[in-house]
Amino acid sequence: MKTVNAIMLAGALALSANPSFAGDAEAGKTAFASKGCKGCHGAGGAAPTPGTPKLAGKDAATIKQALSDFKSGTRSSPIMNGMAAQLSDGDVDNIAAYIGG
Ligand code: HEC
Repeated sequence: MKTVNAIMLAGALALSANPSFAGDAEAGKTAFASKGCKGCHGAGGAAPTPGTPKLAGKDAATIKQALSDFKSGTRSSPIMNGMAAQLSDGDVDNIAAYIGG
């Protein structure tokens, strides 16, 4: 699976006309609002509330890794473990594309 993702990422990067991540950025934008992410991280992850990290400017792979680690519990955060648990793998890809695409 990691190999498949790497191939997809390489493919996405190779398409200079469409440099976005494998996910769907529009769907990611919708999920970011509907799942409550925007409330703390701000629109596009650019205007976080105090104590919340800014997501804007991070690349898609970094966002995907962080969300996957919160989901699996590899990375521990009382807030983000719960938030990430409600995301499907597709949501993670889409949000990564929205923020980092
Ligand atoms: C209640 C406030 C809150 C909500 C809602 C919230 N977050 Fe977070 N988020 C945080 C905080 C606080 C951290 C820092 C956690 C840590 O590093 O321990 C964080 C960290 C992150 C990170 C890692 C950033 C980094 O610099 O490593 C990502 C990615 C992220 N959140 C995405 C999301 C997404 C996607 C959602 C919606 C599903 C969401 N967050 C909802 C508060 C929130």
